[in-house]
Amino acid sequence: MDLTLSDEQQLVQKTAADFAKNEVLPRAAEIDRAHRHPKELVARLAELGMMGIAVPEQYGGGGLDAISYAIALEEISRACASTGVIMSVNNSLVCDPILKFGSEEQKQKWLTPLASGKKLGCFGLSEPEAGSDAAAQKTTARPDGDDWVISGVKNWITNGPVADTCVLFTMNDRAKGHKGITAFILPMDQKGVRCGPPDKKLGIRGSQSCQIFLDEVRLHKSHLLGEVGGGFKVAMSTLDGGRIGIAAQALGIARAALEDALAYARDRKTFGKAIIEHQAIQFKLADMATELDAARLLTWRAAALKDGGARHSKESAMAKLFASEVANRAAKEAVQIFGGNGYVEDFPVERHYRDAKITEIYEGTSEIQRLVIAASLLKE
Ligand code: CAA
Repeated sequence: MDLTLSDEQQLVQKTAADFAKNEVLPRAAEIDRAHRHPKELVARLAELGMMGIAVPEQYGGGGLDAISYAIALEEISRACASTGVIMSVNNSLVCDPILKFGSEEQKQKWLTPLASGKKLGCFGLSEPEAGSDAAAQKTTARPDGDDWVISGVKNWITNGPVADTCVLFTMNDRAKGHKGITAFILPMDQKGVRCGPPDKKLGIRGSQSCQIFLDEVRLHKSHLLGEVGGGFKVAMSTLDGGRIGIAAQALGIARAALEDALAYARDRKTFGKAIIEHQAIQFKLADMATELDAARLLTWRAAALKDGGARHSKESAMAKLFASEVANRAAKEAVQIFGGNGYVEDFPVERHYRDAKITEIYEGTSEIQRLVIAASLLKE
């Protein structure tokens, strides 16, 4: 087994790492404190071809593979987890399903501006009463001639306040359960679409999310994404890719925690020596580094399977489950290594601690990942 990155993947890593270090990291604390959408960084990500990395060049994307995507996203998230998730949602949850399920005309019209970063996307699946139970959609879509009329409420929609385009899920036939779910491509400036105020969050404060209210929104049938009644499979297979993105974001947060803790431990002295010379600190750092590598291997395996075209629900769930828990453990230990300095805003690890938590919640909680893994084991 060869784990060496290709020349192209190494170039992606270097490009993303340089950009993250020089342009993202210096702004990360300010973005967090101001709860500010980093518009200028998203524009730079677009210039670097990172808003649709794995989309073919003919549709405005970078034409690269899912491993390159995971590598780039880890680097960006290492500097700023908020910027990381903005990029992740556009790549995994918006570009990917339009590439996979969209018609040629839809790819030209919707995917090309999204993948090139001229437009920004969001993913409208969750609702006030449909989070983990994604099939319990209450947003209705009823046919009316050549149009569909959509009403309902979406919740916690990442990028919602700043998005141009939404991949939206609706229920058009409740009696059919998940087979009554239908996906649409919704322009966010369509009449009847309204965003609530940005959510006030514990972490990833530069990533804006909100409720989206849909009041008799009329869409022509050309906005249907995939088959009528095929929306649940669009959502689930999209999340198989999305979970690789969140795993990569978690890797970035875990790495930030490890690297910041290492630097601090070299500098900080107690009992007459640098704290890195105390075994109690060394053991923490060793565990963080080991878990980080294990999480990265799981993430790259899921990405490699995606690139090969195989179903990777279990592997993506394992990567997301493990990497998110690793990020939380790493951030917790980093705060402990920083001691009192870990608890104040003047140092970055309190931000990593707050940012890490969401990776165990969105795109399927850790409990949902365990259900996906177990369901797959039961079928084997
Ligand atoms: N790919 C293709 N098809 C799939 C699939 C997949 N990965 N997973 C399930 N399906 C199909 C099944 O084969 C089944 O099809 P048939 O009826 O034809 O056999 C159908 O979908 C229903 O499957 P289940 O019975 O397993 O569905 P369920 O209702 O029990 O739900 C679940 C399964 C895993 C719990 C799912 O509801 C789930 O993933 N929940 C979590 C939702 C989630 O992750 N939300 C994230 C929101 S987006 C977000 O967070 C973005 C952000 O902010 C950054």
